[in-house]
Amino acid sequence: MTINNKLSRSICVIFFTVCAGVACQPADEPDYVFDESLINQHMDAEVTFQERYRPQFHYTPLINWMNDPNGLVYFDGQYHLFHQYNPFGNTWGFMSWGHAVSEDLVHWEHRPVAIPYGIEEDEAIFSGSAVVDHENTSGFGGGDTPPMVAIYTSHYTRGDGTTWQAQSLAYSTDGGDTFTKYEGNPVLEYDDPDFRDPNVVWMEDMQQWLMVVALPTQFKVQFYASDNLIDWEYLSDFGPAGAIGGIWECPDLFLLPVDGDPDNSKWVLHVDLNPGSVAGGSGSQYFIGEWNGTQFVPEKPTGGEEPLWVDYGTDYYAAISWNNIPEEDGRRLWVGWMNNWDYANEIPTDPWRSMQSIPRSIHLETKDGEIQMVQRPVDELQVLRNNHIQLQNRVVEDEQQTLAGDGISGKAYEMVVDVDPGNADRFGFTLHAGENEETIIEYDSAEERVIFDRTNSGEVDFNDRFANRFDAPVSPVDGVVRFHFFVDWSSVELFINDGSTVFSTRIFPDPASEGITVYSEGGEAEILNLDFWELSSIWN
Ligand code: FRU
Repeated sequence: MTINNKLSRSICVIFFTVCAGVACQPADEPDYVFDESLINQHMDAEVTFQERYRPQFHYTPLINWMNDPNGLVYFDGQYHLFHQYNPFGNTWGFMSWGHAVSEDLVHWEHRPVAIPYGIEEDEAIFSGSAVVDHENTSGFGGGDTPPMVAIYTSHYTRGDGTTWQAQSLAYSTDGGDTFTKYEGNPVLEYDDPDFRDPNVVWMEDMQQWLMVVALPTQFKVQFYASDNLIDWEYLSDFGPAGAIGGIWECPDLFLLPVDGDPDNSKWVLHVDLNPGSVAGGSGSQYFIGEWNGTQFVPEKPTGGEEPLWVDYGTDYYAAISWNNIPEEDGRRLWVGWMNNWDYANEIPTDPWRSMQSIPRSIHLETKDGEIQMVQRPVDELQVLRNNHIQLQNRVVEDEQQTLAGDGISGKAYEMVVDVDPGNADRFGFTLHAGENEETIIEYDSAEERVIFDRTNSGEVDFNDRFANRFDAPVSPVDGVVRFHFFVDWSSVELFINDGSTVFSTRIFPDPASEGITVYSEGGEAEILNLDFWELSSIWN
């Protein structure tokens, strides 16, 4: 086969392949091709970070398509963020691992593509994790620096267009800059064409590596153990369980202290599903339980219970947590992909598509007698705060008040508001409010729910599943509901009651829509305290 034939065949294959048991593919035929010489074209791209809808304090690639975070690992003073990336175009295709690094979790430096699509074998580099092999168990190390090992899914396309997936390794001996594929790839195969997203951690008590990996269309994850990252021994399956309205992807397993008590820790198994999530389309669920050495034994949710949702918004998917965070830090940190496979390829941004969430720490806390996951924005983000404005004891009685007169408006900001709903039936905010549009967040006192409404949030008609409303149960704590907003040019992340309930959501408002209002209906509510900060851009 000539190289040209080979190229056009793989382009077709990419276009018609179903990546996830559901369509990842763009609706229109892509206008890009595989071109080796363009793999790192992003490093020379001229972008301003002032493009319409460009997030100011969230990670985005300079140009082109991104999806899941991959291989999150801390090494030698740097947080690494690898991610699903198409080096050639602005829709899903030619999956490779893009790369960025940060020293503070806030400012990111774009790096060359770490693991490119393999044109020779038609191997797309799907999602996975990365570890630092301190003891050189893999033998990939040599010098003084321990190898960083990426464990990813090889998504191969055969000549007849059918696909299969297996787990592979690539290692770096220069701290994550360049990777070499292991010559014995793949290292783990299974009798199912959908078998992906390996997530590997070092298990101290087992003195072994543990992998959790998804069997998406069986609504299962599997566990495997290894001494050297190369040879894997099957341990057990988990699932179907919880929410199974869509395929399972991107698992993660980690231990967290309950209420900060290291003597009382529980295992959390995080598994995403697509579609069938709480707000529609792709989303994120978790299980709490025990790891008995070979099996995950769930305690919550039990058979009849509602699934446990990580996020009640539409746009938080494929989150995984950082490996190798220093013990003295001790936090479990993650980011998620802020997009949804319902409309991912059509969101109206150019020359890049998709963003990662702000980094968050994850905790288990007891609320009303039940243990649940809590997410908090990392404190590091506070370096971006400026122009602080505070309001106190502002009564809102059956009216809508703009906060512009108080100097509170904008499109990239953080705002913490403590509300006493009083005798109002409803209390709410409008954000990114302009002449003809607004994003509404409303608390309904009788129902004890927070409703997120983006039906009129700006540009919504690029896909008919985008203009929607979704909600979550929320009860006041000691009579107060706390809303903690991180609002960017095209997103809202809302942490309610110190991260007990989270909404992560994309919106595409007009750049001129900078209004912020508060309102109540049917009675009097009171803003006990409001803190507002503009947030600086992380891009210079
Ligand atoms: C999740 C996912 C993963 C897969 C990757 C492909 O969004 O479908 O299961 O590895 O994206 O890009």
